[in-house]
Amino acid sequence: MSDPKFPPPAAAEAPLTLAVPKGRILKVLVPMLAQAGIAAEGLLGDDRRLVRESDDGRVRFLLLKPDDVPTYVEYGSADLGVVGRDTLLERNYELYQPVDLRVGLCRMVVAARVGAQIPPVPRVATKYPRIAQKHFAARGVQAEIIFVQGSVELAPVTGLADLIVDLVETGSTLRENGLEEREVVCSISSLLVANRTLFKLHHERIAPIVERLRRAVESAHPAGI
Ligand code: PRP
Repeated sequence: MSDPKFPPPAAAEAPLTLAVPKGRILKVLVPMLAQAGIAAEGLLGDDRRLVRESDDGRVRFLLLKPDDVPTYVEYGSADLGVVGRDTLLERNYELYQPVDLRVGLCRMVVAARVGAQIPPVPRVATKYPRIAQKHFAARGVQAEIIFVQGSVELAPVTGLADLIVDLVETGSTLRENGLEEREVVCSISSLLVANRTLFKLHHERIAPIVERLRRAVESAHPAGI
């Protein structure tokens, strides 16, 4: 029997793991995490470490390519993740989506060369074949979807496609390549996602952080602005 005067040390609480996308979103995410009480300046350090920690060591960050974030959360390698709605719409993930972080705001659009006539069965280049397919099917347009990995704006310029479906933030990439927006497919922002099983199993550890992030978003956008 163990001596009550010398109880075994409590198992050190494992840090909560948050998967974050590398790239421009980090600059807006770090202040939001700070607002939620998570000091994450280490995420902005210009080095090659893929695992980093908050100042107090209570949150561990995994730095990932944006498209890989949901995979790490779905398989439970991370408790939580930050992921664009575009990625969630394009593929099916079994994830809980507790908070729209309202950062990384942009829109998914259909665009074409300025003034171009579009044939009845257009060729559409995109990194988002599922979203594009669904969009044109809903309009009764039979479209030939061509998958490309990036620099999508080049497709109409070179004649590879008549249209593109892609993200627009400032509109400069479209403008500088002689393209114009023809339709908005949907609005995009980054969401906080959670592994469904871990969220239930470790609710007392995960839920308070989710709640703090929810409040940080609300204070950044009072009255839903
Ligand atoms: C994204 C998107 C557009 C561009 C839109 O590309 O696919 O090309 O940003 O931004 P803008 O409206 O502010 O010009 P990203 O820079 O991620 O690179 P990619 O083309 O290689 O996907």
